Amino acid sequence: MLRAKITGIASYVPDYVLTNEELSHMVDTNDEWITTRVGIKERRILKEKGTGSSDLGYRAVARLIEKTGIRPEEIELIICATSNPDYRFPSTASIIAEKLGIKTTYGYDLEAACAGFLVSLQAAAAYIQAGIYKKIVVVAAEKMSSMTNYKDRSTCPLFGDAAACVLVEPSEDGTGIIDSTLHTDGIGLHHLIMNAGGSVLPASHETVDNNDHFVFQDGRFVFKHAVTDMIRSSNTVMLRNNLTVNDIDFFVPHQANLRIIEAIAERFNIPSEKVLVNIQKYGNTSAASIPLCLSDFESRFKKGDKFVLTAFGAGFTWGALYLIWGYDAK
Ligand code: UT7
Repeated sequence: MLRAKITGIASYVPDYVLTNEELSHMVDTNDEWITTRVGIKERRILKEKGTGSSDLGYRAVARLIEKTGIRPEEIELIICATSNPDYRFPSTASIIAEKLGIKTTYGYDLEAACAGFLVSLQAAAAYIQAGIYKKIVVVAAEKMSSMTNYKDRSTCPLFGDAAACVLVEPSEDGTGIIDSTLHTDGIGLHHLIMNAGGSVLPASHETVDNNDHFVFQDGRFVFKHAVTDMIRSSNTVMLRNNLTVNDIDFFVPHQANLRIIEAIAERFNIPSEKVLVNIQKYGNTSAASIPLCLSDFESRFKKGDKFVLTAFGAGFTWGALYLIWGYDAK
């Protein structure tokens, strides 16, 4: 059976490190609160004026090209998962292609908030299985600092900037993306949102004065749904594929809050060494968080390792994906 597999992974984070200590001089917060309530120690920020998510994304893809040895003109499709596009239009994918000098590809942006990588990976797998494309790059690129209000202590410690990407190709050896379950229900609308800048509330002096161009989050409401929905969807893919916790080598949850990750791990009784966590270094990088985690831990992975990935974000949109890793780390 033809499947799709990840054949390479790369990431890019900007150099600037925003520590909890620095944040404590910007808003009324402290390292102890952020560490115990969220599990973040520092995050990366793209500082250069006039740069956006495409600058993160193209650097990650350039590393992927170098690592995998793929020729840029072989990339048939770039799916860019982002909630922080460079512009409302044109697509960030098209800007990434231009920055890489690729003239032969097709590409588009996919907005599914923090679940964007899983949604894009499922789409990439479907294109491959349908025989439409053979080489797809899924790049999650998020300049989260562009929507973060650094005067709001309830959100500014949470987010960081990053990009991470994977190359997806056909697989006939049984490895690859096996199953996924994705959902959206719309009940999160007023709980996790950037209120202005869209067609309902276009930019105006008033929207700027009201801070409506920043992320708003009702943290407690989102927290409860994140735990419940990531548990339920992970359970669904595990049951459907007759997997117990013992069968799974790596569990990779969206990195939004260490307490959410621990609650999920506890529910499934997963040993901590199987649960991949890097939130302490980067914060919540939205769609980039899962591939950034895979990229950080890639040296541990062996062909045949079984993974459950799970994500949750605005909408709400959430899900889980089961895959068998396709190559040994070099
Ligand atoms: O990635 C997409 C999905 N997003 C998520 O999954 C995030 C889900 N939510 C969360 O992770 C957590 O709800 C937050 C990290 C956002 C907030 O943590 P919390 O434990 O739910 O805190 P809270 O909002 O209930 O606030 C508790 C207290 C409040 O003080 P009072 O009212 O109890 O006196 C806040 O004012 O903590 C206060 N607080 C802070 N204190 C110091 C809120 N932010 C801070 C801060 N520093 N940065």
